Amino acid sequence: MESINSKNIILGISGGIAAYKTPELVRRLKDRGANVRVVMTPNANEFVTALSLQAVSGMPVRTEILDTEGESGMDHIDLARWADLILIAPASASIVSRLATGSASDLLCTLCLATEAPVFLAPAMNRVMWGKPATKRNVSQLLDDGFLVLGPGVGHQACGETGSGRMLDPLDMIKLLEEQISKPPAVNKILEVMITAGPTWEALDPVRGITNASSGKMGYEIARAFQQHGCSVTLISGPCNLDTPSGVRRIDVTSAADMFNAVHTNVSKIQIFIGVAAVADYRPVNTESQKMKKNASEMTITLVRNPDILASVASLAEPPFCVGFAAETENLRNYAVSKLNKKKLDLVAANIVGQENLGFNAEDNALLLIGKDTDQQLGPASKATLSRQLCTIVLKKYEEKNST
Ligand code: C5P
Repeated sequence: MESINSKNIILGISGGIAAYKTPELVRRLKDRGANVRVVMTPNANEFVTALSLQAVSGMPVRTEILDTEGESGMDHIDLARWADLILIAPASASIVSRLATGSASDLLCTLCLATEAPVFLAPAMNRVMWGKPATKRNVSQLLDDGFLVLGPGVGHQACGETGSGRMLDPLDMIKLLEEQISKPPAVNKILEVMITAGPTWEALDPVRGITNASSGKMGYEIARAFQQHGCSVTLISGPCNLDTPSGVRRIDVTSAADMFNAVHTNVSKIQIFIGVAAVADYRPVNTESQKMKKNASEMTITLVRNPDILASVASLAEPPFCVGFAAETENLRNYAVSKLNKKKLDLVAANIVGQENLGFNAEDNALLLIGKDTDQQLGPASKATLSRQLCTIVLKKYEEKNST
């Protein structure tokens, strides 16, 4: 894994209570050998002092863009060029929104616009703010623009609430950062990756059907992560209310049978297949062409098994590298291992469903990755963060398998 040793890091601090953790973050970054310069937004000064940060970083702290002293030392363009990466921690809802619009209203935003280095955000805000559509839109825009997001974590918040939106602890944040700057192994061709996502809809009649609570978020974030790693990504999506990640080819389907057909029409050219979709296991034997009437007091619907799309891909004569998901309410590891063997998969990403704030329809998730030589816990973390971790691991495992 690549280290931040000798890297030039601008630590951007925005105004949020989690800013009190940043002197500790500076120390931990320096422990790992990084050169750290701190830039604060004007609001950050309310939560932590520039003096403390100057003492721990050993460097002058910059706040104002029009600061004659600062600009005479290293002007903001030189500072943006100096950085190997920018880490904004905490990233408040306000700076997330400013960055999403490309604002240059303060020094930190200006540096993010002026730099060619990657910018990492460690969001920290109240769980309701983190869950608001406006914040989700902004984060999704930033991910599309190439920003990287670390966390947030789930847990107790300064406002007294519990949920998602907590800034990651310094050591966890640095570990994730190092994982994310570690490029996946170089591949000498563009890999074709196919991902299924979302639920399926098994129609009973023109207005009713059998479906489930999958939002599609995990599959869409995984598609985005592989696309951002330079793969060519086809996303076969059940009915979802999500924007297509930029650069991803999306094929919309409704039922499991449609999904099966779309997958098998396109499967021959792919190297990696990831089944994230919550495919309905059964479909009605008959779909009525007209809306059914409620005449009888009871009704029996006969269902038949749907084909297992993932298992059908994994049992092709020359299968791609296959990754399955397993959503379970208990015995996570046992079910994951049995799915790995039964469906002949390379990796299974198992997650517990039915827990508050994690899994189906939630912003966050936690995965247990099981493979022949893999047994690793990822998260809890945002689905975007988990997807990038998963992407790095899958590409590494794919390379290992294909180099032997
Ligand atoms: O056996 P189970 O449904 O728990 O397996 C889940 C995994 O299998 C997921 O990766 C899901 O996308 C895939 N699957 C599938 N086709 C089905 C059922 C599940 O591709 N009919």
